[in-house]
Amino acid sequence: MVTVTVPATSANLGPGFDTLGIALGLYNRISFEETDAELEITGCPPQYANGDNLAVLAFDAALEAAGKKRKDCGKGLRIGIQADIPVSRGLGSSAAMLAAGAIAANRLYNCGLDNDSLLAICCSIEGHPDNLAPAFLGGLTAAFMKDGVPITARFTVSETLRFYALVPAFETSTAEARAVLPKTVPFGDAVFNVSRAVMLIKALETGDTELLKEACEDRLHQPWRKALLFGYDRVKQAALSSGASGFMISGSGSACLCVSAADIGQNLARGLSGAEREWKVIPLEVDRQGARVDKE
Ligand code: HSE
Repeated sequence: MVTVTVPATSANLGPGFDTLGIALGLYNRISFEETDAELEITGCPPQYANGDNLAVLAFDAALEAAGKKRKDCGKGLRIGIQADIPVSRGLGSSAAMLAAGAIAANRLYNCGLDNDSLLAICCSIEGHPDNLAPAFLGGLTAAFMKDGVPITARFTVSETLRFYALVPAFETSTAEARAVLPKTVPFGDAVFNVSRAVMLIKALETGDTELLKEACEDRLHQPWRKALLFGYDRVKQAALSSGASGFMISGSGSACLCVSAADIGQNLARGLSGAEREWKVIPLEVDRQGARVDKE
């Protein structure tokens, strides 16, 4: 039996669309063991308890990359999911399932794949690496794909910064959030985002909250996506009034992420209490370790 623990992740971080991501201390723990039944999945809604589950897809993809098949390995597979990462909120629950499946297959069946290969396998399923890179590596990462291979870099995050996920009761779909984006953007907007993304890394490394305020700005995705988030302008205003230096949509939403050098949890909860929909404030540490195998 193998149990894999994978952190939540927040992708994009404002200007770093499809590139930047950070691992956060909220976890899915997923156990994998051989069983007599062909496939048994517990701990998730019935519609995900089948062979299309992302953990199963990544599990089988890792086996295939090693020239193996689940059936040839003898027994069936039992998967037990203990998920604390909310689903369809832009906090990396899909990436967590994929990473867990690939890592578990590699361990259970001695596939001999290294971390880079497992990451590449998962990225080929997810389509972009910005959640998966921090899910595997922990901390703040930048990543892009070149010829199907993820190129990654990891950066430090100042210990002075505090992160808060603002999680609404409603979901967004990544497909819908990508469909609302423009096909092309003005050259000036592309330059705007490149400059902010680079500065954002510096601000997060140093804990410079003045730079952070400027560097969170984005013109590539949030201006179109905010229409999908009920009460976005009011929530952003409440977060900034509560002392957040950084505010961004987490991944493709629906959660948002706040960054501050001060403890603003109570201010945020108070500020959001009058919002049109219910928003939960979750204070989160940066996860600096990434996915790990806990028990074998
Ligand atoms: N970078 C992705 C997006 C993250 O914003 O669409 C969501 O999976």
